[in-house]
Amino acid sequence: MDHKFIADRAAKFTPSVLMQLQSMMSGMDDIIDLSIGDPDFTTPEPILTAGYQDALKGYTHYSPAKGYPDVIQAVIDSYKKKMNIDLDADRVIIEASSAYSCFLACFATINPGDEILLADPTFLAYKSQIAYAGGVPVFFPTYEEDHWRIKAKNAEPFITEKTKGIFLCNPNNPTGACLHKEDLQAIYDLAEKYDLLIYADEIYTSYSYEVPFTSMLTIPGAAERTIVLNSLSKNFVATGARLGWVIAPPEIITSMMRLGVNVVYTAPSISQRMAKFALEQGEAYLEPIMAEFKERMFKTAERINRIPHLSVQSPPPGSFYLFVNVKETGLDDVEFTMKVLKDAHVTVVPGSDFGDQGKGYVRICATQALPKLLEACDRIEKLGL
Ligand SMILES: Cc1ncc(COP(=O)(O)O)c(C=O)c1O
Repeated sequence: MDHKFIADRAAKFTPSVLMQLQSMMSGMDDIIDLSIGDPDFTTPEPILTAGYQDALKGYTHYSPAKGYPDVIQAVIDSYKKKMNIDLDADRVIIEASSAYSCFLACFATINPGDEILLADPTFLAYKSQIAYAGGVPVFFPTYEEDHWRIKAKNAEPFITEKTKGIFLCNPNNPTGACLHKEDLQAIYDLAEKYDLLIYADEIYTSYSYEVPFTSMLTIPGAAERTIVLNSLSKNFVATGARLGWVIAPPEIITSMMRLGVNVVYTAPSISQRMAKFALEQGEAYLEPIMAEFKERMFKTAERINRIPHLSVQSPPPGSFYLFVNVKETGLDDVEFTMKVLKDAHVTVVPGSDFGDQGKGYVRICATQALPKLLEACDRIEKLGL
């Protein structure tokens, strides 16, 4: 971007291929857009009604800086009920989305020059936010042969005296990789050995198929060096609510709160009321939605594996993303993406948008109904790549 008033800091950030694809799609009216990481379901009505009813009762103001106490309690109760994790209120803060929580977490913990480890490929906002905070993102590889699971042994060679922390996304966007208990234990052991902070993004908690979801907080000792990010966005199909929560050592929570009150001030009050209901009673409304995501993922993965030269882990491990190997087509992932967009009117995202290890893969989001997903596969197959 070139304008005399644009700061150097902002000018450095160029649009991702995903953003470019959005503009290329305009004008194609039969497009099947599988690039969007936003569930296509509307948030279940009872969750919306709970927010609305509480708004009518007057919850339309700023909340306390850390969030409403009863919403914090709902987070505590849900972790106890679902994962048998005990939390104190001073370890929880409610914030406006996990993207913003991640930003605050980076600003609260990263000093200029601190190196932060990131799995390659992963959700790239981490890289930007680490850099905004003055940190240095350092990628370590994950591999298809390992089902893309984050292995501590692959991160260790990248540790220097400047390494301060390690990011985990479990289940991972874009690979869907789910970390097993032994992976989490090994990462915790590494963090302890080198005195690292763990940033654990667990926003796809409900989308774990390969193994039951395991939080980093279940590893003994991890709570003292872990910042967990979670939100309504994916687990309660409520991306527009912009509502998240963070679990971390009390000092980090306080620091995030002090930073946050000077930016957004408090998390949206009506969305907080939705969160209270969602965490306390929302699960039942989500079950059919999660069952449908699982069916879409399993059936689309099977279908993809019947397309010559494409392959994907089947059954898929987790998330609502399929990370498809396109190497045998002879096209690289960007060429493949452009070809299927232009000739099949199907939008996918090149894997290299998520890191170098993603070269040769594309991400397909199961955020359309199954017939659409299967039609997209038919269209891609017909190209004979
Ligand atoms: C891994 C990951 N973390 C965080 C986010 C942002 O979540 P939120 O809507 O809670 O800001 C996304 C959104 O796609 C994501 O994939």
